[in-house]
Amino acid sequence: MTATANTQVAAPRRTANALPFEGQDGLFFQTWYPIYVAADLAIGEIAGTDFLDGRVIVYRTSDGQAHVTSAYCPHLGADLSNGKMVGDNVQCAFHKWEYDATGRCVKTAIGDPPPPSACLFRFPTVEKFGIIWAYNGTDPLWQLPDYEKPHQHLVMRALKVPFLYHCDGWIFSCNTPDMQHIKVVHGINFRHADPHQDVDWQKFGFDYRIEAGHQGGVSIDWQVGIRGTSFFRQQGSYDGWWLGAITGHSCPRPGNHEVFLSLAVDRGDGSPEALDVANKRLDTAQALLERTVAEDRQILDTIHYRAGTLTRGDKSLARFFDYVRNYPRAHPSADYIR
Ligand code: FES
Ligand SMILES: [Fe+2]
Repeated sequence: MTATANTQVAAPRRTANALPFEGQDGLFFQTWYPIYVAADLAIGEIAGTDFLDGRVIVYRTSDGQAHVTSAYCPHLGADLSNGKMVGDNVQCAFHKWEYDATGRCVKTAIGDPPPPSACLFRFPTVEKFGIIWAYNGTDPLWQLPDYEKPHQHLVMRALKVPFLYHCDGWIFSCNTPDMQHIKVVHGINFRHADPHQDVDWQKFGFDYRIEAGHQGGVSIDWQVGIRGTSFFRQQGSYDGWWLGAITGHSCPRPGNHEVFLSLAVDRGDGSPEALDVANKRLDTAQALLERTVAEDRQILDTIHYRAGTLTRGDKSLARFFDYVRNYPRAHPSADYIR
């Protein structure tokens, strides 16, 4: 008698429901991406950073306004982050052409008239939560939401986590509707059934509420949510005090991202004692959020993310996958930033 070979083979991997990656078909999500920590950019300073599949500069004019534009000079392509501010104009280091805040070349050094086509791409730019954000598009489809508390009642702290993840930022955003991972990776014990039915789905994001015991049994009552594909907001009570946290996921190039973090706590009556309490809470919040981000780090840094075999516990994640698949993508700055 001959032994029968084990003929069971794995089913072919499903690819019909593939998720769109950054840069695929030359397109990127039309979302607000964090570009720079606001406190690190003084008036008159120019900084360069990689963005999408190219490079941008971020600078501040004398009115304090932050601007994000394409980095390469339309003359011969010098990187404008090597230039300097002359008044409110960006001056290229190479032949000293100058660009005003609308992105137009307004001056050449030798007196030739500025060519009308010499323009930088201006990204819609906002400064919020202590972070400078740029929108991939010409007209934002949505605006960054506020916290439930007025910002003047809060003390905030923003920073960039010094780690480059080897995956797109939207994959990090998929962790918010991934309720399985919230429990098993972050040790958060829900005090209710998975709230799949209570997720408030919106055109450009969602929110839901978690009441739970956090690590060490600390009570939390948080609203968590995503906007676009790059913005996470959490707000509510942690151990009896109000904590707000934002994470923004950058796109320095396809397949990579960094995490920008902003924390907020009540400022109380603004007295030195109240600010001392606020700063201690910010320390606690920063340690908590940095730890949370670190718990995901190795998993996300090495993952080959796919919409694989899902179970009941993945209901909201499955819906978010559809949201990501249908999310508008574009690349209007393509001819400028590369
Ligand atoms: S390359 Fe910028 S002015 Fe010539
Ligand atoms: Fe996570």
